[in-house]
This record gives sequence, structure tokens and C-alpha cells, in this order.
Amino acid sequence: MPSTSSFGFFSTWLKLLVSRQHRMLGGHAEALKAVVSLKLSPDEHEAEVHINRMRAELEASRVLIQMQDFGAGTRGNVLSSESKPHERRISEIYKRAAAPPSWGRFMFRLVRALKPQSVLELGTNLGVSALHIASALEINGDGKLVSIEGDPTLSDIARENLARLGHEGRSSVLTGRFDDVLPDCLPQNRPFDLVFIDGHHEEAATLRYFETIKLHLTPGACVAFDDIEPFRPVRKAWKRIIAAEPHSGTLDLYGIGLWFAPLSSTKQESDAKASVVVQ
Ligand SMILES: C[S@@+](CC[C@H](N)C(=O)[O-])C[C@H]1O[C@@H](n2cnc3c(N)ncnc32)[C@H](O)[C@@H]1O
Repeated sequence: MPSTSSFGFFSTWLKLLVSRQHRMLGGHAEALKAVVSLKLSPDEHEAEVHINRMRAELEASRVLIQMQDFGAGTRGNVLSSESKPHERRISEIYKRAAAPPSWGRFMFRLVRALKPQSVLELGTNLGVSALHIASALEINGDGKLVSIEGDPTLSDIARENLARLGHEGRSSVLTGRFDDVLPDCLPQNRPFDLVFIDGHHEEAATLRYFETIKLHLTPGACVAFDDIEPFRPVRKAWKRIIAAEPHSGTLDLYGIGLWFAPLSSTKQESDAKASVVVQ
């Protein structure tokens, strides 16, 4: 786990990015300044201690599981021929896919600052980012997380991890491909104030998910795109979205890109612009 000083360095870097892009953030600038300070209150610190214990367990776990690759290796959102079920150790999955502690704390602080009622995550994996989000909702005392994962074994592990930290009431993990789950999930859990897109790192897929989700957002809602670095396709999708879509603020943090929905009549404006991004 990173030391306090590495969080300090990360926070300084994030603060620099926020101050450089202050004008692009509009009315969200003050909230983001508080988020990127990454400072934790005593109860927030205690929640992070529990998450870090779970991280340490996952990082050390030699357990082998059968899983399918729903990641960047898939094409057109169907499993590619080489992505047949294969065995992986949990420790290896954790190291490859879970949000690092610094970005986990960022998501935690974002949830604390925005106080969302309804959060959507695409890409649960072992549930590590979900633990940060659900823990922040717990401290907020309000709000629910719905997270979607294609692989059934990973979904089960994530559910168990969330339950072990007592977050089963704040979170649900849905199993299935995003394209299959979203049509029912969105109307049932809308409107969303915060969306975290962290799976299927292809340009067309990212644009498609955004197009579907944007019709179910509250005014000023935040959509966070993970991995706009180093995944060029995700960066390209995010760049197209911030150039074409009306918004109330954007922020490029290199690892994560933020887009904030317009502050009023999101749905109507989005409907009018429905096919600006995806042609
Ligand atoms: C980078 S990992 C998510 C990491 C997690 N958010 C965290 O930080 O702990 C991406 C996950 O998305 C899932 N995934 C990718 N494409 C998907 C799709 N089209 N439908 C459903 N799940 C998908 C993968 O199986 C993988 O577990």
C-alpha cells in the first residue's frame, strides 16, 4: 500500500491539473479542489484501513479461478476466439485490473464530495473500486451503487468482498455483458449522479455505453472514464465526447477523465444531440 508521502505526491500532481484546468471545470471547481486534496477524516481513514486489509488479502491470494476475458481483448463486445475461459490467480487479477490505492482514494473522495444517490459502475472485477465507492456511500449515509461485471466468478467474489465489509445494503453486483444488462438496469436504477466506466476499453464501445447512459443522468451528473491513459481508444472516445456533448465541466486527470452533464434539462438536451457522438 502506498505511504502517506506517495499520496502527498499524487495529490500535488492532481492539484496542479485541477488548477491548470480550473476554467474547464465551471461550477465543479471547488468540489474537485476538495476531492484532489485526498485528505481523510478519522472515519474516512478507518474505512480505508478496512479496504486496505481486503486489498492485502487479494494481493496475496494464490487461489486459482476460471475466468473469461471481457477486457480490451474482446472485439465488438463478443468474446474473441482467444478469450476462452482460462485459469488465473486472484493475486494476478488484482495486480492487473484493480484500481490502484491512489485512484481508489480519488473515487472515494469524489463520492464523498458529490454525495450521489445513485452510482453506476461498468466493470466490477474483484470489487476493489466498488469497495471504495460503497464505503464512501456508507459514510455519506445515503446512496446506492450498482456495478456490472461480465464474468460470473468475479461477480461472486466481488459480492462476497462487499458483504464482508458490510456493504451489501449499499451495493448490488449484476452479472452479464454491459450491452445485455444496461437495458433493464438503467430504467430500474435511474437517474444516476455518478457513473464510473471501467471496462471494455474500446472507442466504439465506450461511445456506445455513454450514449445509452447519458439519457439516465441527473443534471450536473459526473461520468468518470477510467484509463484514458494509457488506453488510446478510451482517450479518443472521451475526447470526442467532451468536444461534441454539451457539458457543465470536464477534467483530464490522465488516468481518469471526467465529464459533467449540463446543469439543467439534461435529458432533453441529450435527446436533441442523441447521435452527435456515435455515427
Ligand atoms: C479494469 S477491470 C475493472 C476494475 C474495477 N473497476 C476495479 O478498479 O477494481 C474491467 C472489468 O470489466 C469487465 N468487462 C469488460 N468488458 C465487459 C463487458 N463488455 N461486459 C461486462 N463486463 C466487462 C472485465 O471482466 C473486468 O473484470
